[in-house]
Amino acid sequence: MMEPTTASASASESAPPPAGWLNRLLVRWIGGPQSVNQGVLFRLLALFLPHRRRLVLANLLIILASFIGVFSLFAFLPILRVIFNEQPLETEPPPAAAVSPEHQLEDDLLTRLPLVGPLIERGRQRIDTLKQRLQAWEVQANAYLSRNKLEGILIIAGVLLLAALLSALLSYAASLIMARIEEETLGGLSERLYAHCIRQDLGFFHRNPTGQLMTRVYNDVMMLRQPMELLYSTTVREPVTMLFLLIFLLLINPTLTAIVLLMLPLAIIPTIILARRIRDISREEVMGDAFIMDQMQTSFSGIKLIKSFGSEDFEAQRFGRSNRTMFRRRFRRRMIKELASSTSDIITIIGVVAILVVGALLLFQFGIIGGGAEFMLYLLVLNRFYKPIKKLSALHVGMQRALMSAERIFDVLDTRPRVIDPPDPLPWPEDFDFIRLEDLGFSYGAKEEPLFRHLNLWIPRDRVTAFIGRNGSGKTTLAALLCRFYLPTEGRILIGSTPLDRIAEKELRRRIVMLTQETILFNLTVLENIAYGEDDIDLERAERAARLTRAHEFIEQLPDGYHTVVGERGGRLSGGQARLLTLARVIYRDPDILILDEPEAALDVKNQAVVAEVLREVTRGRTTILITHKLSSVLHVDKLVRVRRRSTRTIRGKERRTAEALENYI
Ligand SMILES: Nc1ncnc2c1ncn2[C@@H]1O[C@H](COP(=O)(O)OP(=O)(O)OP(=O)(O)O)[C@@H](O)[C@H]1O
Ligand SMILES: [Mg+2]
Repeated sequence: MMEPTTASASASESAPPPAGWLNRLLVRWIGGPQSVNQGVLFRLLALFLPHRRRLVLANLLIILASFIGVFSLFAFLPILRVIFNEQPLETEPPPAAAVSPEHQLEDDLLTRLPLVGPLIERGRQRIDTLKQRLQAWEVQANAYLSRNKLEGILIIAGVLLLAALLSALLSYAASLIMARIEEETLGGLSERLYAHCIRQDLGFFHRNPTGQLMTRVYNDVMMLRQPMELLYSTTVREPVTMLFLLIFLLLINPTLTAIVLLMLPLAIIPTIILARRIRDISREEVMGDAFIMDQMQTSFSGIKLIKSFGSEDFEAQRFGRSNRTMFRRRFRRRMIKELASSTSDIITIIGVVAILVVGALLLFQFGIIGGGAEFMLYLLVLNRFYKPIKKLSALHVGMQRALMSAERIFDVLDTRPRVIDPPDPLPWPEDFDFIRLEDLGFSYGAKEEPLFRHLNLWIPRDRVTAFIGRNGSGKTTLAALLCRFYLPTEGRILIGSTPLDRIAEKELRRRIVMLTQETILFNLTVLENIAYGEDDIDLERAERAARLTRAHEFIEQLPDGYHTVVGERGGRLSGGQARLLTLARVIYRDPDILILDEPEAALDVKNQAVVAEVLREVTRGRTTILITHKLSSVLHVDKLVRVRRRSTRTIRGKERRTAEALENYI
């Protein structure tokens, strides 16, 4: 598992600098500033930058849609007046007359304030002109309605319907654009993440279990999907709708609207408090998800072991335990989420009720409101006004989990492989005589005891050098160092006089190939497995490699010959057949330096002889390193090296010829 401290440290180092007030505002609203890295949110949003043109278009559509949606509500007013049996306004009332004396006073006080005063004054003038225009329109509509009730209502209903349809259409178009942007961005992110992971050095894969990596590449990106959808549809749509609704409310009644605005913080605060809790739970939840994935991955891939030990119940219970822990965490998160939603519901209702009471008071006691119809319309709009608040708080809550995932994703993206391609590579040394290990030291981790120290070894070119030694003595590790899977902690490896770490990765992989100790096959055809990683597959060359390793015989007998799919991890083949196939694979690659880690493993006596023959054939004029526990294989090699923890020793002379002595080392 990645150590969280170093991981988040690396994320903060490479995060872009906080972008001033905008970032602070966003972070404060969407994720609290304490526990989530500020850069994370900004980086997350930056992923969408390449699509900014389409984002702008979608947002314009959204603004238009919400404008039509909100202001078409005015059409209700004449209908409500007819229903309330109120007289349509025949004359335009002077703007000041519509406002009560106390109200006037309050406004005057406000306009005397520095800075805000002129703004309020100007805003009020705008609203007044708008109001006059609307009233003029209303007078006409009312005049028509009073003459022709049914027809008038039908026309207004038609207008409302059309407006709703248009608004919905625009909204749909905007949503489609958004959905596309999201899919492209998040799909791209998954691809980037996978490509980044696969390029890490081997050490990274020892530190991060498979299940963890799978959750990061897939689940964590999935976790971003819904909140990102919300984020991009809500951040513009809801505030804009709220703004339009606010203007609308102000047009009908400024006093009531002041009360509404006072209620606003009350609706927001509980969600902010609850969201913090959700973030903490989400962190545990994401970790748990990775753990469960890991458990599934190991049990499904180790199914044969489970069957042979009859441990199905054992595994099912183990899985059940982890799953129930997750259940509790998930349930707690849901509980808080629903609580946040209910609280904002309650506050909304309190808000509406408060307005109802105050409004009724104003209507009946002071006659501030134009009439019952206007009040009805006010309540109708007010109800809508609280909806975006609910959505925004849902976003705030939903974002917590996404930010958790985003943090993990950026952690991976910020991890640089320890073994890197040299920026100024040297060419492959065509005329080297030896591979030299100079004063080499290596340990798997800072805390672990070094496996090698001050190791010096020369490996001759075009000869077979065998590594022998007990289990765990470090033979495979030494081979991995020669392949540059890990970097030595001390000393260096030279090919001739060229340091191994100065050779370009691509070149290195073409020149040095290793037959790994474990047999690894992909669920591809036999041919694709032999020519693995090559774009142009040469059937003849593959056949030659297969003939040499005696794999050809059994391949021919497969239902589709070279085009038979071998099954997951070569499950369709026997262990020995799979081994022969991997041997054919390294021979197909035709490298300059061939490393064979226990090639005889899993092979029958006859095929072990094949390996000896292959060695004779393939290793002619090729630097070969053979790791083996088989005495007969090492009797004829050119150089014999005994690997021990911390050291190696070349075995020479008489000692080599006595099988008894060698048997002690193997
Ligand atoms: N990824 C790893 N992280 C930490 N320690 C490791 C890792 N891989 C191997 N080791 C340790 O390094 C030592 C050498 O392992 P290595 O695989 O090189 O042995 P080997 O000589 O190939 O043994 P065998 O004959 O069993 O294949 C062992 O003690 C092992 O526990
Ligand atoms: Mg080994």
